[in-house]
Amino acid sequence: MQLSRRKFLLRGAALASAPMLGGPIRLASASGGQYRLRAGAASIPLLGAGAPQTQVWAYNGAVPGPIIRLHRGERLDVDFENTLQRPTTVHWHGLRVPNNMDGVPALTQAPVAPGGRFRYAFDLRNTGTYWYHPHFQSAEQVDRGLHGVIIVDDEVAPLVDRDLLWVLDDWRLDPKGQIVADFGNFHDASHQGRFGNTASVNGRVPEDLHVRTGERIRIRLVNVANAWIFGLDFSGHAPTIIAYDGHAVTPHGPPGGLVTLGPSQRVDVILDMSGEPGERFEVLDRYYPRRQYKLLDLVYEKKRLRLNRLADDVTLPAPDLVKPDLATAKRHRIVFSGGAMGGMQSARFKEQETTVPELARMGKIWAINGTVASRHDEPAMLKLALGRSYILDFVNETAFTHPVHLHGHPMLVLEANGQVPAQTTWRDTLLVDPRSRISVAILADNPGRWMLHCHIPEHQEAGMMAVVDVA
Ligand code: C2O
Ligand code: CU
Repeated sequence: MQLSRRKFLLRGAALASAPMLGGPIRLASASGGQYRLRAGAASIPLLGAGAPQTQVWAYNGAVPGPIIRLHRGERLDVDFENTLQRPTTVHWHGLRVPNNMDGVPALTQAPVAPGGRFRYAFDLRNTGTYWYHPHFQSAEQVDRGLHGVIIVDDEVAPLVDRDLLWVLDDWRLDPKGQIVADFGNFHDASHQGRFGNTASVNGRVPEDLHVRTGERIRIRLVNVANAWIFGLDFSGHAPTIIAYDGHAVTPHGPPGGLVTLGPSQRVDVILDMSGEPGERFEVLDRYYPRRQYKLLDLVYEKKRLRLNRLADDVTLPAPDLVKPDLATAKRHRIVFSGGAMGGMQSARFKEQETTVPELARMGKIWAINGTVASRHDEPAMLKLALGRSYILDFVNETAFTHPVHLHGHPMLVLEANGQVPAQTTWRDTLLVDPRSRISVAILADNPGRWMLHCHIPEHQEAGMMAVVDVA
């Protein structure tokens, strides 16, 4: 990879020193890749100064948790401590970690008991924007505030004036600003999952973002909501997408005009501030046509930063991933069924064919290939040979959209809802629309037992998960 002089060396650039929306985000106390992470109860000013604080569960007392930021090739070494009253684990979403570091309870490790510790250590093999969260009772633990971001830097990055992080979330709050604790109720589980009533950016109800004419901003968008899909409209501006789920993509405008992120997905965008001094623009969330709202305002300061926008190339270095061999790839069909209005009659549950009313009585309602999961360490649904390539056809026979997530293996998108993507696209999570299909290719190069599940934890816990064995 040739170093173009249009790129600048990023080494040492500190995201935490950049003004970030929603107040400062701290870097985890780190020395040479070593971090301390503590899960525990905390309170945060979610609704802003003057409003009551919101009781949450958090990493190191903050929502989002500390940013872990290292370079590709470095080793991350986390001393994790659980001060919650519940067991938990930490999953490193989207990172290609060894199986025993993947943080899946029962499947890859015993849950970390209250008061317990666990050491997570692995090499960072790919650059990009990733995140971490519990994989134990995720519907409650992630929703209560346990999530943080990992940024893996390359030697080079596009030249920008500011590198910002927007962790997008939604909260179901009562009138006192406290989290409504009806986690995993059957209505949410059988419909679209847990929707909130309050959106946040970086753990705060969003505030204006002050910008300057001519400024170039990179925004790392991360959707940590349980179920809400964000579709951002940067009105009056032309965002350029440079990465999906951490992996570089040929820069392009958002398909359909909206920067869309399903639960757990990330999108890195470049935003050139093309407005005039003193102007104000809305950033809208328009994914759900009947639930549109303004996320925040872009407010132009009186003094411009420069006259003409930067002409520099914003292309990121190509992902360091080996492409699956499509010529020899074996095909597997993976069918998602169940849920309200899904028409499912029965499914296998704990080795028994079980009717939907019986399943519903046990809080289960979703199936993958006809099987409703009861636990993380289910018998393997798929057995893949180490080193071989596979095509997976995700078929959604339900009435809802599902963010389908595979652990340990980035997926090369071949066809999504009838269309071949215009750019080479790698993802760790795919939004599969109702009654449609997405085909991906993977190289089964990471041995172990890996989760395949819907990233709406209400769906996952109501049966929509499976185990893929790579050996
Ligand atoms: Cu973000 Cu199975 O996880
Ligand atoms: Cu789902």
